[in-house]
Formats: sequence, structure tokens, C-alpha cells
Amino acid sequence: GAPVEVDISTLKPGEMTTTEWRGKPVWILKRTPEMMESLKKTEDKVADPKSEKPYTMDMPAYCDKQTRSRKEHSDILVTVGICSHLGCSPSSKFAAGAQPSLPDDWQGGFLCPCHGSTFDLAGRVYKNKPAPQNLDVPPHMFLSDTKIIIG
Ligand code: FES
Repeated sequence: GAPVEVDISTLKPGEMTTTEWRGKPVWILKRTPEMMESLKKTEDKVADPKSEKPYTMDMPAYCDKQTRSRKEHSDILVTVGICSHLGCSPSSKFAAGAQPSLPDDWQGGFLCPCHGSTFDLAGRVYKNKPAPQNLDVPPHMFLSDTKIIIG
């Protein structure tokens, strides 16, 4: 598939936009400082905090292990919005705190409606969930602060 260019100039902190690449939904989430901070709290709750398992799409080497984003734009998460269990698309549950079907100490992230896998705000799957791996991070680069090319 051809690379996809995305303009994120109107994306505000805490907002996500979806594009399509190789027939798959790709999420671009601009994380707030609080959202970034939450990644430290989920570090020991996720199954593979540094994305070290074998992946169908290895996380690009230029991505930071904890934030799963490029270091020069660490607030921006680019990830494929497909659950690694049976391919459903998780929904965003950004609000932290107790919510139905989510852990009491929920820090914000994503919930897969099909079999209950939960992911943090870096797309890392929580422990003991059916999804075998974190959400994929596709190859991507910034053409400018507001333009991303995926693929
Ligand atoms: Fe997501 Fe099963 S497809 S938990």
C-alpha cells in the first residue's frame, strides 16, 4: 500500500483522529501531559511493557519503548486500531477512574468490545487479557510538526 499523509494541525491534546493505511484503521492520538504521565503507572500492569515479544509488525526502532512514539514527538501515538486477539477494533476510553468493565484504577486507554482486552494509552495490552500482543505501531515519520506520513 502507498504511504498515507495526515495533517494533524487541528488535533488538540486529548483528541484522536483515524486514518486508513493498507485497509486498516490507524489512530493518531495527541496525548496530554497527564496521559503521558499515566504510562508510568501502567508500566507494571501491561503484559509486554517494552514491546519485546515477536510482532507481526515490529515497533519501529526509532520509537521509545514506553511511549511507543517517536522521541521528537513523544505526545503523538500512531497505532493500528485492531485488536491482536481476533481483529475487532477497540474503542477509546480516555477518562481515567472507575468505569463499567474497566479496572478500578483505570488510567485511560482502549477497550476491545469483543472479549474485553484492555490497552493503555500507548496501546500496550494489560496482563491476563486475551489479546496476545500490543497494538501495532506502523512505520511513520513527521514531515513537519503537523504532518505525518504513515507507511
Ligand atoms: Fe479483542 Fe478478542 S478481538 S479481545
